[in-house]
Amino acid sequence: MNSPAAVPVLAVRGAQKYFGAIHALKDVGLEAYKGEVLALLGDNGAGKSTLVKCICGIHALDEGEILIDGEPVALRSAAAARVAGIETVYQDLALFDNLSPTQNFFCGREIGFPAWLPLPLRFLKSAEMDRSAAAVIQRLKVNLPKFDAPVALMSGGQRQAIAVARATVFARKVVILDEPTAALGLRESRKVLDLIKQLRAEGNAVILITHNMEHVVELADRAVVLRQGRKVGELKPDSSNQRELISMIVGAEP
Ligand SMILES: Nc1ncnc2c1ncn2[C@@H]1O[C@H](COP(=O)(O)OP(=O)(O)O)[C@@H](O)[C@H]1O
Ligand SMILES: [Mg+2]
Repeated sequence: MNSPAAVPVLAVRGAQKYFGAIHALKDVGLEAYKGEVLALLGDNGAGKSTLVKCICGIHALDEGEILIDGEPVALRSAAAARVAGIETVYQDLALFDNLSPTQNFFCGREIGFPAWLPLPLRFLKSAEMDRSAAAVIQRLKVNLPKFDAPVALMSGGQRQAIAVARATVFARKVVILDEPTAALGLRESRKVLDLIKQLRAEGNAVILITHNMEHVVELADRAVVLRQGRKVGELKPDSSNQRELISMIVGAEP
């Protein structure tokens, strides 16, 4: 894996975030390396989603910095984070209800021609987009009603599968998955876990938020634990230290 001297592909330093009187992130730091799955753990309200939203350009940090490949970056929007190589599957499923899976898949990066025209003026290659979205979703073995049906008509599991599939297609550096299996059945969860392993094998840094300790032990190379906005621990999860990990999460003595 990574040598101690390796530069983390993503680093957060001294992150502080306030929502009015709520101090959601208290001096949080973390590092994610190429080719690893980092589990980000914590009870509800610990600050996991807030940290993710700061990394992927949705919220601005009040203090602290984010570095990509060792360079400080200012990610002022989700689009800017994507350009920087950070692909995110949000907990609150960021799909557009009125669009089809294909449209959701390519939203903002539609395949069109001629390439010299600005995006909104291009003719879209709809069939090509349908085919490539379908190919990826097929790999997930998720049953979808129809590719041109609006996403609003789909189950939570189907929607989540589309969001994960989209992230795997566009992943270049860092992939963040905020509770990606929360709405999925066993078979669909298994597919998502396989996709996460594939993302890691392809050299991405994967940050995985989950409450499923079996998934953590199976997948995570390292785990960082947040509690009430603070980083309270970091360890390499295995079957022998699950209790320690859970104590860190809930704040009890082991
Ligand atoms: N947009 C927001 N406005 C106000 N408070 C928020 C907002 N987002 C999160 N919070 C608060 O920040 C804290 C951390 O929330 P969150 O990051 O969603 O936790 P987690 O994902 O670990 O469950 C909670 O107290 C939550 O109520
Ligand atoms: Mg959350």
